[in-house]
Amino acid sequence: MIAVKTLGQFIIEKQTDFPYAKGELSRLLRDIGIAAKIVNREVNKAGLVNILGDAGTVNVQGEGQKKLDVYANEQFIAALRSGGECCVVASEEHDECVYIESEISKNAKYIVAIDPLDGSSNIDVNVAIGTIFSIYRRQSLEGKPLISDVLQKGSEQVAAGYVIYGSSTMLVYSTGKGVNGFTLDPSIGEFCLSHPNMTIPKNGSIYSINEGNYVHFPQGVKDYIKYCQEEDGKTGRPYTSRYIGSMVADIHRNLIKGGIFLYPVSSAYPNGKLRLVYECNPMAFILEQAGGLATDGMNRILDIVPNRLHQRSAIFLGSEVMVKKLMSFLKRTD
Ligand code: AHG
Ligand code: MN
Ligand code: MN
Ligand code: MN
Repeated sequence: MIAVKTLGQFIIEKQTDFPYAKGELSRLLRDIGIAAKIVNREVNKAGLVNILGDAGTVNVQGEGQKKLDVYANEQFIAALRSGGECCVVASEEHDECVYIESEISKNAKYIVAIDPLDGSSNIDVNVAIGTIFSIYRRQSLEGKPLISDVLQKGSEQVAAGYVIYGSSTMLVYSTGKGVNGFTLDPSIGEFCLSHPNMTIPKNGSIYSINEGNYVHFPQGVKDYIKYCQEEDGKTGRPYTSRYIGSMVADIHRNLIKGGIFLYPVSSAYPNGKLRLVYECNPMAFILEQAGGLATDGMNRILDIVPNRLHQRSAIFLGSEVMVKKLMSFLKRTD
């Protein structure tokens, strides 16, 4: 019988990695874990309760919000509010930052950026969806947190993680000392350590991109896709194309099997589609911690200083050898 190690036990055990922390980050991670279990409960019965379909509202992105987008957003913000360790939340589903000004949060030192429900287009068709979160330490010393506390570059993250609501529900996170994955055991209601020290294979044979946008891709991306599709036994090509349309699910698969995820600029998204603060940065942090690379085609994602809350970025991330190969194609056509 394998000894079960729950997320809570693991977090407390790893607290020794942060001698100066007095448990606030641990508490914050546990608060997120609780909200993930609550959202998971609704996701699992989504077809049975009135939580599918559209909420009838539009978010700042101009996207029609799904009921589960709104529900997940409410649950994560409620958990962060009651936990008392977070002073401001930046959410995909809120135009502006949500300041947590309760009595217990007034000395909170952490900022959380969150995509409460990633892959919304897959909710109604029962395909894997996720949640993405990113945690920063506030830099300002007193008073109301500043927008500069939120718009920190990704390399300043103290932790980042995602939840994938798939054939099983997993929480994968890093505090900068490697990546660990926990699988929810519904029979005890606990996330249990199932994937210790996750590392992405240095090379892979899966590429993930929405080829429907092919005509609008930069030439270097087009050339790289053609490269993936050529016959070449030595390098195991043609590669396999796998694209789910939920960033969390596509990247989680590539993290385990090896591969590259690409969301370039396109005519519909001239600056890229994915949001830097609560999609690209947390996923880039995790992939780098797992030994992968993450770039916008020119810059390391984690080096980009955000200047707007919902700004978008092109993103290419995954196995080191594959990302470097893609970069060589982008450089040829600079
Ligand atoms: P969200 O549901 O949080 O708005 O994110 C959707 C994103 C991401 O999950 C996915 O990788 C991408 O949209 C898919 O975009 P396309 O449908 O344009 O391929
Ligand atoms: Mn959305
Ligand atoms: Mn998303
Ligand atoms: Mn979302």
